[in-house]
Amino acid sequence: MMSSSDTKVYGVIGDPIHHSKSPLMMNEAFKVLKINAAYYAFHVTEEHLPAAIKGIKALQLGGVNVTIPHKETVIRYLDELDESAQWIGAVNTIVHRDGKLIGYNTDGLGYVRSLIEESGQSIAGKNVIVLGAGGAARGIVYALCKQNVDRVIVANRTVSRAEQLATDFSSFGEVKGIATESLAEVIQAADIVINTTSLGMAPHLNTTPMEAHLLQPGQVASDIVYTPWTTRFLREASERGCHLHRGLGMFIYQGALAFEHWTGEQAPVKQMRAIVQRSLTTE
Ligand code: ATR
Repeated sequence: MMSSSDTKVYGVIGDPIHHSKSPLMMNEAFKVLKINAAYYAFHVTEEHLPAAIKGIKALQLGGVNVTIPHKETVIRYLDELDESAQWIGAVNTIVHRDGKLIGYNTDGLGYVRSLIEESGQSIAGKNVIVLGAGGAARGIVYALCKQNVDRVIVANRTVSRAEQLATDFSSFGEVKGIATESLAEVIQAADIVINTTSLGMAPHLNTTPMEAHLLQPGQVASDIVYTPWTTRFLREASERGCHLHRGLGMFIYQGALAFEHWTGEQAPVKQMRAIVQRSLTTE
């Protein structure tokens, strides 16, 4: 659709931003649903963050996605936080509604939606191991608790971070923090093992978050990294007879949930995925 003076403008702010697939994906979604809107990537450095956020109101943007390194610092410039952003302590989606800027976090919820849709089954009652205890792990633990999984074990190199994350969510579900070295003691009972660290992502292609021989046939091995398409963790898990779940779905569904907050319409997930997938294979 051609832009007009009625075109609603959205975007993503981050530093760096030039590799973002969000404009491609979101403009496709607007096109499919014939919504008069456009989505741009804005390179916003830390010093310009306050002005950029004020600019959402000044320019009457519909909302923005927020990415690295602003997901946490942006919170102080917002009017309200949704429950997800309060629990996670980070925002990836700002909705400009009735003159207010409201922060949401759709990363973990998007991840879990992708896990459910792609595995074709509910995750309620499952036993889940989360590898890593950083920002990505936090969003995922939040979303897992929301889906009533039976138990989450966070395994991390630095055990104190895993324990802190577990404590933060202890009122929400059964979450326990352990050191990565102790994985052998708990892995047998796991249904799903999720890598939330950047180990395996370019340029650290030959690294992996755990020893593959510990994985059990039939377990779901899931990696939030999708470049490369098959990480060392997934390759080794496949060799062990695990079912694989890739990280691209997390990106697609975090965008789909943001789109739904902004437009109130169901996101055209199939077309969004297709256009991103095509751009990855042609890179
Ligand atoms: P993000 O917000 O993307 O999750 P982060 O907060 O920096 O990033 O967290 C990165 C995670 O990857 C952490 O769990 C980190 O472990 P530590 O808490 O011990 O630092 C983990 N990680 C990164 N590099 C690692 C490595 N070489 N070996 C093991 N774990 C690593």
